[in-house]
Amino acid sequence: MSNLDSRTGFEQHYAGEAPWDTGRPQPAFVAAADLVHSPVLDAGCGTGENALFFAARGHRVMGIDFIAEAIRRASAKAAERGLAAEFLVQDALTLGDRGERFATVIDCGLLHVFSDDDRRQYIRRLAQVVEPGGRLLLLCMSDEEPGTHGPRRVSRQELYDAFADGWEVESIELIRGDLNPKVTEITFSEGGPKAWFAVLRRKEP
Ligand SMILES: C[S@@+](CC[C@H](N)C(=O)[O-])C[C@H]1O[C@@H](n2cnc3c(N)ncnc32)[C@H](O)[C@@H]1O
Repeated sequence: MSNLDSRTGFEQHYAGEAPWDTGRPQPAFVAAADLVHSPVLDAGCGTGENALFFAARGHRVMGIDFIAEAIRRASAKAAERGLAAEFLVQDALTLGDRGERFATVIDCGLLHVFSDDDRRQYIRRLAQVVEPGGRLLLLCMSDEEPGTHGPRRVSRQELYDAFADGWEVESIELIRGDLNPKVTEITFSEGGPKAWFAVLRRKEP
């Protein structure tokens, strides 16, 4: 998928009901909350439910997404809920350009949208913005989910290979993703799409 196609596709999703936009944080991030330290970046934050969950726990949180409508909705939720999270329109492939650093980056469904080249660029950018000893918590579609509908599948080995240089893989767990119940035309396996939930630590230099 080229970047341009994906941007148009995401704009169309946010003009209606996006399948991933459940209105609540993904349970895998809730379960891993104790691993999260400030400052936190939610990369490809969508309408901000995961970022806002961590903001409500008292973390300093920034969410970025390249779709303005997603960021508008995330900012509106933060204001409604009286939370101080900051949301910015930014392409994740430009992360690090402002010298920003985070103790934790969360990625809920971003890595799996990228082409191979963009994935490599994104991971190089993550290496710049995650502090040494900091963590990346990542949820992506698993190759154990049958079919080709929805985002591209990622194998456990691809995750090990992609993060082989400068990262320690703390865990990779097979989980089920939560979906927006209002979107009924997309069918994944019973119980929700199979996904990897990976915890990666940036090695000290
Ligand atoms: C599957 S959605 C997940 C959204 C959100 N993390 C969630 O869990 O609800 C992927 C998100 O990544 C965003 N995205 C895709 N490519 C991006 C890029 N290059 N830079 C920033 N955001 C991007 C999309 O706009 C979309 O909001």
